[in-house]
Amino acid sequence: MNPLDFFKNLIKILRAKPHIPESLSENEPLQMILHRRSIRRFSDQDIPHDVFGAILEAGRLAPSTVNLQTWHFIAFTNSSWKQHFGQQIPFKGNRAVIVLGDINRTKQIITTFPYSPLVEYTTAVINASLAAMNMNIAAEALKVSSVMLSETGKSGYFDAQYLKEKLSLPNGVFPLMTMVFGYSQGGFAPMPPKLPLEAILSNAPCYGEADMEILRDWYNQMTAGYKAAFPLSSFKAQLEHYRRNIERAEKELRHLIFYKDRHSTLDEFPSTNSTDRKEGSP
Ligand SMILES: Cc1cc2nc3c(=O)[nH]c(=O)nc-3n(C[C@H](O)[C@H](O)[C@H](O)COP(=O)(O)O)c2cc1C
Repeated sequence: MNPLDFFKNLIKILRAKPHIPESLSENEPLQMILHRRSIRRFSDQDIPHDVFGAILEAGRLAPSTVNLQTWHFIAFTNSSWKQHFGQQIPFKGNRAVIVLGDINRTKQIITTFPYSPLVEYTTAVINASLAAMNMNIAAEALKVSSVMLSETGKSGYFDAQYLKEKLSLPNGVFPLMTMVFGYSQGGFAPMPPKLPLEAILSNAPCYGEADMEILRDWYNQMTAGYKAAFPLSSFKAQLEHYRRNIERAEKELRHLIFYKDRHSTLDEFPSTNSTDRKEGSP
């Protein structure tokens, strides 16, 4: 990308803001949701016990399929994270929550469902992600910032098998994301390039493909924004890094998802060995 296009794209990023109708501009919850940002710079300030408790409560009370609540949270302080993972919470966050999809719990009381690993996994992912977003919004309401991470102190992507061992997860429990919480250190956090509504919305009844021009514009803004934030790297290099990790993550997730029952693992899928992990690691 030439320097002129680079600056043009940066200006687009800096100028972008949420569309809020004048009639709703005083609505604080709406303002809060539309101005939410993933934050990656946290101060040393501790999150009070009651505030963190309220964030977890928002996770507990999230909506879920048939009210099955197919999630589990593992909460860490800075010291428990360090003890467990041998390093600080990413971005020096104050608290972390590993969000897990959990169908193991349901199976202990409901025996009606057939072997349906994809449905179970999808349901668990949907529900646990909603719980995560509920925690995220509750945190925002309490002036606590957060970021969701697919990396968890190991290879940089999912780390499903590593976390299964490290957190003693039974079959039917899948690591989904790490949420890092803390008070923002302040500073400007621009909105990363968001697709316009016309690229993600179709009016009934048919699905409409997004315009390639719009997609290209988004990609160029991502490339410029990434370069501005990480001058020594590039969006392309980051995607390549993910590609390598995705190959490993795919194998590990297959093991976790397609187990036969709570007490056995499938052996028809190739086992992930240390060579796989080394290749997949950054
Ligand atoms: C499931 C999930 C995983 C994510 N993983 C990472 C991650 O590993 N590292 C990171 O810096 N951000 C991660 N993010 C944050 C996204 O990069 C961020 O949401 C996106 O760039 C949009 O920015 P915004 O949240 O400020 O709107 C993740 C977000 C989600 C929802």
